[in-house]
Amino acid sequence: MQSIHIASDHTGVDLKTTLAEHLGKKGFTVVNHGTDSSDSCDYPVLAHKLCAAVEASGDPGILICGTGLGVSIAANRHPDIRAALCTTELHARMARQHNNANVLCLGARITGVELAKAIVDAFMENTFEGGRHQRRLDMLNLPA
Ligand code: RB5
Repeated sequence: MQSIHIASDHTGVDLKTTLAEHLGKKGFTVVNHGTDSSDSCDYPVLAHKLCAAVEASGDPGILICGTGLGVSIAANRHPDIRAALCTTELHARMARQHNNANVLCLGARITGVELAKAIVDAFMENTFEGGRHQRRLDMLNLPA
């Protein structure tokens, strides 16, 4: 079964644990990159760690902070990461179908648990449509 990487800062530990359990029940192998403590920590550290694992493995990832904003900004500094901050199932579906997102970002202080599970399901169940969307993805990174 497919692996998925997951990480959060201190604000997202409970949601991370719940989503990891949810994904495990669906048969996914969930790789937890922390944090597992409620002690305050810095979201860019977790975001960069998660993105390195996604880049190395080719598996998708989930990043959680309070709003989802910080982790998405950090993750999108990686040239091979397409991180999508999603607050609806439609966001998650389109992020996969059109943007080929490989990291889903969630805000633990924004999105409730049941909606977060539905967003994760939409993210995992949908795939990239390619075609004209690939042409657009090829334009995302600035020339070196
Ligand atoms: C932590 O208080 C909070 O700033 C962080 O979780 C995140 O929301 C940043 O974007």
